[in-house]
Amino acid sequence: MACSVYECLALIGARITENRDYLTDLDREIGDADHGANMARGFAAVVEKVPRDNPDIGAALKKTGMTLLSTVGGASGPLYGTAYMEAAKVLAGREALTAEDFAAALTAAVAGIQKRGHATRGEKTMLDALIPALEAYTARIAGGGSLSDGLDSACAAAREGVAYTKTIAATKGRASYLGERSIGHQDPGATSAAITLEAIRDYTKG
Ligand SMILES: Nc1ncnc2c1ncn2[C@@H]1O[C@H](COP(=O)(O)OP(=O)(O)OP(=O)(O)O)[C@@H](O)[C@H]1O
Ligand SMILES: [Mg+2]
Repeated sequence: MACSVYECLALIGARITENRDYLTDLDREIGDADHGANMARGFAAVVEKVPRDNPDIGAALKKTGMTLLSTVGGASGPLYGTAYMEAAKVLAGREALTAEDFAAALTAAVAGIQKRGHATRGEKTMLDALIPALEAYTARIAGGGSLSDGLDSACAAAREGVAYTKTIAATKGRASYLGERSIGHQDPGATSAAITLEAIRDYTKG
């Protein structure tokens, strides 16, 4: 599809900022009450640093990753930073996205998070939204679905993953200090991941 990567990033930033207090409240329950503030700070810097008029999706995502790495801090800064930088490598020089391009970029992003954080699904992290989202996306487009169809399936799976995080104990990150006491609480990083995918979906639907 033809797109403005800047506009899409700006929409992600707007959604994260709208949900800043919600994300921070989730992180207050099982972490240190900074996830919303961390991510909102990061995306405020992203919209300042990513050039509005450069159509190169890879270049914009690389700048996004570097900016998140340097401004977000905590666990999520390096993880989201890596995700955007890995997606950037796949999309270098691209000015439009096919359904397959997005699959390749999301695959690289998820692999980057897993490599950096040494986590997998079932550990109450952002991966509990992202791995099912990736699987749902690739299954939908393998069945002939468009980018937009794939994103619908990805978002539904991400929200199921967010709900699933309430039922399990954290074994990675700050929430793991709570062990079994983290059960019953929703993971903030999985929630911000679902919000991110929903912003991308909504952007593609214009
Ligand atoms: N190893 C990991 N792999 C994937 N996601 C992780 C990992 N560790 C933490 N996370 C995600 O990061 C989120 C927390 O992000 P946040 O911005 O609050 O950083 P933080 O945990 O406060 O960092 P720190 O404890 O280093 O200050 C969690 O909700 C979880 O989804
Ligand atoms: Mg935190």
